[in-house]
Amino acid sequence: MAELLDGKRIADEILSEVRNDVIGTDDAGRRPPGLAVVLVGGDPASIVYVGLKVKKCAELGFHSERHNLPESTTTAELLALIAKLNADHAIDGILVQLPLPKHIAEQEVLDAIEPHKDVDGFHPINVGLLYLGQEKRALTPCTPSGVIELLERSNIPISGTRTVVIGRSTIVGKPMAALLINRSATVTVCHSRTVDLPAVCREADLLIAAIGKPGYVTDEFIKPGATVIDVGINPVTDPAMAREFFGDDEKRFAAIANRGQTLVGDVHPRLAATVAGRITPVPGGVGPLTIAMLLKNTLKAYRLAM
Ligand SMILES: NC(=O)c1ccc[n+]([C@@H]2O[C@H](COP(=O)([O-])OP(=O)(O)OC[C@H]3O[C@@H](n4cnc5c(N)ncnc54)[C@H](OP(=O)(O)O)[C@@H]3O)[C@@H](O)[C@H]2O)c1
Repeated sequence: MAELLDGKRIADEILSEVRNDVIGTDDAGRRPPGLAVVLVGGDPASIVYVGLKVKKCAELGFHSERHNLPESTTTAELLALIAKLNADHAIDGILVQLPLPKHIAEQEVLDAIEPHKDVDGFHPINVGLLYLGQEKRALTPCTPSGVIELLERSNIPISGTRTVVIGRSTIVGKPMAALLINRSATVTVCHSRTVDLPAVCREADLLIAAIGKPGYVTDEFIKPGATVIDVGINPVTDPAMAREFFGDDEKRFAAIANRGQTLVGDVHPRLAATVAGRITPVPGGVGPLTIAMLLKNTLKAYRLAM
């Protein structure tokens, strides 16, 4: 059976390092790092994510601001808020929670954030620096950066490995590939048009799945002993489906009964565990690292601004 990689433990390690650095700034009489989180509309998942981010900021001694704007907000109104936050010296990081309502010009908004405050790493300047291999100067996207931390802190080799990334989104797949290339992996990026995906994936020592399809990656995609990183987060509400993915794991049925759902990644946990050497669980794998990296990026932005 595959070894489970404990993303929660590594996220806690990163958060504790960030916390110590924030205490250091306080001791030195400097202001704390500041993060502004902007939420437009009432998407329930976004409300939960924003709440978690603001709570974590408070726990770590960051200054944080939450800006809740109504669904009817125009692009111009949102741009005006971004301009204000860009000029605010107490704010080091600006995060606009995605997805934005359809009528808002999303890229225009992301482009308006000062690159040195772009803690999501989506501004073209940060994307460019990442692809130039100049990560020290860049803010890089939180989820793929969290995957790198997970691999490096678990002593899993990257350099020289055959690595396959499934998914080419700008949030996960593409920056994931760039981060891996910068660390000398040999990277193949797959997507919905890839021919014979299982065969391509079976070549990977390191397989990273970010597609948004519950349990799609089965044992036939995995080279025996490979490391499998599951970025996907998908709700499972049907107990029969939970049985397919998790066998008789009572905790999963209890979660559906009590909270209406459990979560599964893009990797089929039961089948993948029979072939993989190491695998990230869902929940408790990549998810906790994303938020830890947001705070680490905000601290980096704070330092870059000094
Ligand atoms: N853990 C976290 O903190 C975190 C953060 C972000 C996202 N996620 C999760 O990660 C997953 C991916 O997110 P995303 O934002 O990258 O999704 P996305 O923007 O929808 O992109 C999905 C990618 O997967 C590819 N794809 C879809 N079906 C495929 C198939 N059958 N075979 C091969 N490739 C396929 C798509 O290919 P095309 O380009 O050809 O359409 C696309 O490139 C989701 O489950 C999301 O919830 C988790």
